[in-house]
Amino acid sequence: MAGEAVLPPDVAREVIDPHSYAQWDGLLDTFDRLREETPVAKVVPEDGKLFDPFWLVTRYDDVMRISKDNKTFLNNPRPVVFSFRDAIEFSRKATGSNMLVDSLVVFDAPIHPKYRRLTQDWFMPRNLARMEEEIRGIANATVDRLMAEGPEADFVKLVSGPYPLHVVMQILGVPEEDEPRMQMLTQQLFGGQDADLSGTGMDSMTPEQVVQLVAGAVKNFEEYFAGITADRRANPTEDVASVIANATVDGEPLPERDMAGYYIIVATAGHDTTSASTAGAMQALAQDPEQWARVRADRSLLPGIVEEAIRWTTPVQHFMRTAAEDVELGGQQVKKGDWLMINYVAANHDPSQFDDPRKFDAARSPNRHLAFGAGAHQCLGLHLARMEMKILFETLLDRIETIELAGEPKRATSTFVGGLKSLPVRFTGA
Ligand code: HEM
Repeated sequence: MAGEAVLPPDVAREVIDPHSYAQWDGLLDTFDRLREETPVAKVVPEDGKLFDPFWLVTRYDDVMRISKDNKTFLNNPRPVVFSFRDAIEFSRKATGSNMLVDSLVVFDAPIHPKYRRLTQDWFMPRNLARMEEEIRGIANATVDRLMAEGPEADFVKLVSGPYPLHVVMQILGVPEEDEPRMQMLTQQLFGGQDADLSGTGMDSMTPEQVVQLVAGAVKNFEEYFAGITADRRANPTEDVASVIANATVDGEPLPERDMAGYYIIVATAGHDTTSASTAGAMQALAQDPEQWARVRADRSLLPGIVEEAIRWTTPVQHFMRTAAEDVELGGQQVKKGDWLMINYVAANHDPSQFDDPRKFDAARSPNRHLAFGAGAHQCLGLHLARMEMKILFETLLDRIETIELAGEPKRATSTFVGGLKSLPVRFTGA
């Protein structure tokens, strides 16, 4: 076996710098090179202080293998997304856990399957189908606002941003007047790296200040959802909050912190992600007006467009895992306790799996992308995300005859959930 592959400092910097994710093409070039030369490579801190070293994994097959082997590659105990070492320490001080929120993504077996089972059926297509008309109503109201603003508008601001948030809040049973608060809390949890998005000034804070702010946001979420729990225990409805509030595991209700974590993951995981794939789908269609006309005439093309948009955008850019034992991977010796970044952006642009991966190919088949992950933690909301996108685009296709770009799309600065933060479009009504 060759010696340990360590990334040169400039490449390591690029991989962990949120700004690189706003400069998409350059980053994809780097991933192309790494996949060829060092598909599993160590990222080592320059000054030994800011963050722990980790293995960057860029090939599709390796990301798939790690995702599916939930015994060897654990989500616990190291934070599931890339974070500064200081942030982990501060979190431990603030909550006693490495993580500020204990949620589905944090747990491994045997707890994870027990918790996952509680809502698994709720998120299956059969149950979601009964919400179709409600979601169509939200899509129509969202497109009304776009039409009122036209003929030019920012699609992210008016459509792809607010629409998935409305849907997730609806399924959680959060009243509309509380949505801005939920949006702010989500930004504080996830969006801290982009100055335009966070609105919190987090991008210029120290890790300690960020953790304090996030810990405050989590407390706020917890207090908010304690009210929802009390209500759904007294008056259960068919929403997912009622399932969580009344759930039992091994005969006991969920501990308060875990219940809050459950609400928080559902409240937060489902909107910025779906926003990003929705904006990406519109970007691809607006760049190719003939494709818009084709799918207007033949709606059977829509599911392929939705799936390809999810691959092409890969909104969740990575997750982290910790090796439970020594294991060989991509010619490297990974040791028990080592930290690994499974990079979905790199995996979803692997030419060994996807021909011409940077091309938006609505007819791509098969399209076994990894944007939703794989294995035990595969996205709980993947059917909902697809359904939301399909309903929104059906509505848009009904009501918009032509659409094109009206300016440069701009990407968010973020290592974790990424995508467009602005997409100027010009359109004519049908
Ligand atoms: C987990 C992506 C939409 C809820 C995940 C994971 C990814 C992901 C990559 C981790 C998978 C793994 O570790 O193997 C996405 C993308 C979405 C999306 C790209 C939109 C296009 C949603 C929606 C919801 C949701 C709409 C629900 C409202 C969750 C939950 C988990 C999760 C609860 C944790 C599952 C677990 O750990 O067992 N998602 N997601 N996601 N997602 Fe999504």
